[in-house]
Amino acid sequence: MVEVKELSKQFSLKAEVNYLNFYYGGKVHALKDIMMPVYDKKVTALIGPSGCGKTTLLRCFNRMHDLYPGNKYKGEITLEPDAVNLLSPKVDPIEVRMRISMVFQRPNPFPKSIYENVAYGLRVREETKKRVIDEKVETALRGAALWNEVKDRLQEPGTSLSGGQQQRLCIARALATDPEIVLFDEPTSALDPIATGSIEDLIGELKNQVTILIVTHNMQQAARVSDFTGFMYLGELVEFDYTNSIFHNPGKQQTADYIEGRFG
Ligand SMILES: Nc1ncnc2c1ncn2[C@@H]1O[C@H](COP(=O)(O)OP(=O)(O)O)[C@@H](O)[C@H]1O
Ligand SMILES: [Mg+2]
Repeated sequence: MVEVKELSKQFSLKAEVNYLNFYYGGKVHALKDIMMPVYDKKVTALIGPSGCGKTTLLRCFNRMHDLYPGNKYKGEITLEPDAVNLLSPKVDPIEVRMRISMVFQRPNPFPKSIYENVAYGLRVREETKKRVIDEKVETALRGAALWNEVKDRLQEPGTSLSGGQQQRLCIARALATDPEIVLFDEPTSALDPIATGSIEDLIGELKNQVTILIVTHNMQQAARVSDFTGFMYLGELVEFDYTNSIFHNPGKQQTADYIEGRFG
């Protein structure tokens, strides 16, 4: 396993997870002493068997767990370059969700027009200038490779689009606030192979502008889209390395067993 320190000399950090522990309702200890770097403008994949804590870790990054009482974080996720601890009670979760946006497993457009779906975060930010919103909506839809398909129907409901288009609409919504990190939780699990391919291609393009963290149970997908991979098991990060190393030369027996399909 390449030492994280070694990697950090070559790539700049966008975020760093430091001794992160997470508890659901004060009982379920779902994340245990997670230490993980997130490199700037790279794709980092989280893999591991169902229930190992991938979604839980992803949701710490934008403070989604704050929405339910009794959940508890210990440790830090620092966001660079300002080294702010995202988990600090002094940090406003709404602001965190502007800087770190999320795309969910199933496309979940709001019951609004295509345009308003993308404009949503800008309105939350109290942006009122139509010219600014128009421009950001177009940029986000272009970024999500959807503009050409919807530019003549921006006032139609988001739900009138196909599943793959709806997921790209959700990506546009996630991009509209110019986030620093976009979180993807199994973004293609509800999509057919063609729509999956276009989302994977899109992720490859997006990393030029934003840092990406993606959870997937599809190992081929992790191998195709990511630069770095973390393998999780029972709430721990067992191994973190270049994706290529994780898949071809894993450092831990547990990782090798998982990659070779011996469990999970
Ligand atoms: N809302 C919740 N309340 C209590 N336990 C939960 C909740 N969500 C997930 N868990 C538990 O936390 C662990 C990690 O779950 P999760 O992060 O969803 O795993 P993964 O995404 O890797 O499948 C599992 O044991 C799961 O049962
Ligand atoms: Mg999950």
